[in-house]
Amino acid sequence: MNIYFCAFGKYMKVLVTGGTGFIGSHTVVQLHKAGYEPIIIDNLSNSDESVLKGLKKITGVDFPFYAADCNDRESMRQVFIEHHIHGVIHFAAFKAVGESVEKPTDYYQNNLGSLITLLKVMAEFNTQLLIFSSSCTVYGQPDVLPVDETAPKKKAESPYGKTKQVCEEILEDETLTKNFLRAITLRYFNPIGAHPSAEIGELPIGKPNNLVPFITQSAAGIIGPITVFGSDYDTIDGSCIRDYIHVVDLAEAHVASLKYLENNAEIYFNTFNIGTGRGNSVLEVIQTFEEVNNLKLNYNLGPRRAGDVEKVYADANKSSQVLGWKTALSLQDSLRDAWRWQQRLAMADSSRLKN
Ligand code: UD1
Repeated sequence: MNIYFCAFGKYMKVLVTGGTGFIGSHTVVQLHKAGYEPIIIDNLSNSDESVLKGLKKITGVDFPFYAADCNDRESMRQVFIEHHIHGVIHFAAFKAVGESVEKPTDYYQNNLGSLITLLKVMAEFNTQLLIFSSSCTVYGQPDVLPVDETAPKKKAESPYGKTKQVCEEILEDETLTKNFLRAITLRYFNPIGAHPSAEIGELPIGKPNNLVPFITQSAAGIIGPITVFGSDYDTIDGSCIRDYIHVVDLAEAHVASLKYLENNAEIYFNTFNIGTGRGNSVLEVIQTFEEVNNLKLNYNLGPRRAGDVEKVYADANKSSQVLGWKTALSLQDSLRDAWRWQQRLAMADSSRLKN
C-alpha cells in the first residue's frame, strides 16, 4: 500500500463532502486503501449515519465525520481549521432529476451554493486540489456515440442537469485565473452495484428513482413490478441504453484523478468521462440480473419517461490514457453485488424488527 504523507508527517487528508452517500462512501474506502485519510462531511439529507459502521467494518477505521451542510461556511471553515486538507472530493449535491423539475430553486441554491462556499473556504485555506462529481447528463442526447469529452453540451433537460453544467463552468472560470484552484470534473455515467463486502451500498430514501435499486427492491418484494420506461426507442430491443459502471470502479477513478493532479502541477483543469464504454439496454440489465442471481423479475413495458435520453455511453479512452484508470468489474459483478446489498438490508431490517 502506498502511504501519502503531508507536510506534517501524517497521512494526506482528503475531505469527502457527501461522504456517507452512495458514491462518496465507496470513495472513502478506496481513498483509505490508497493510503489517504478521508475526512467526511455530510448533512445526512439523503444518507444515514449507519454508513459509518459499514465503513468501519470494511476498513477498521473510524473516520472523522462532520454532520454539517456544505452551504454552511462556518462549519466548513471549522473542518479546515481542525485538519490540514490536502484535497477535496465534492459529492454533496441533490441528484433527483424529477425533484429538480419540481424544486428548481432548491437545486440551484444547494448545488451551486455548496460549490461556491467550498471554493471560498478552499481559497482561504489555500487548498488547491478538487475533484468534482459531474454527470454524463451534461451531454443530453449526444449526436455521436460513444460520446467523448469534446462533445458539445446540449441544453440541459432538467435543473439538476443545469446545475452540473454550471458547476463545471464555475470551475473552468476559477481555474483560468490560476489563483489557487486545480480541478478535475468527472462525468459519471450510471453508477450501480455495491461494495462486494455488502457492508455499504445505495440507500435510496423512499421509492427509488434509479433502475437498479428499483430492480433489487422489486426482487425483494418491497415494491411491485418494474416498469420499463419505453419499448419503442431506436435501440436493439426498444428500451433505453446506458453505460452502467460498478461504483467501486467509479470510486477508484477519484483516487486516480487525485494522483493525476498531484503528479502534474501544470494542470489546472481537466474533464473526464467515467464509464465502461459499453452500452446496455434496460431489458438487458433486467435479464442479466435474473441470470447472475438466478431469480425471476416481474416487469412490464410502459410508456417513455419524460426527459430520458434514448442512448448514451462513454468513450472512456481519455480517462484510461491520461489517468491510467480503467474499469475492472463487469455488469454481472455490479448486479450480483447490488443484490447482495439488498439482501443485507433485508437482514438488517428483520433483526431490527425482532429486537
Ligand atoms: C440520470 C442521468 C445521470 C444522473 C442520474 C441521477 C442521463 C443520461 N443520466 O440517469 O447522469 O446521475 O439521472 O439520478 O441523463 N428505468 C426504467 N424503469 C425504472 C427506472 C429507470 O425503465 O423504474 C430506465 C430509465 O428510463 C433509463 C434507465 O432505466 O433508461 C436508467 O435510469 P436511471 O437509473 O434513472 O438513470 P438515468 O436516468 O440514466
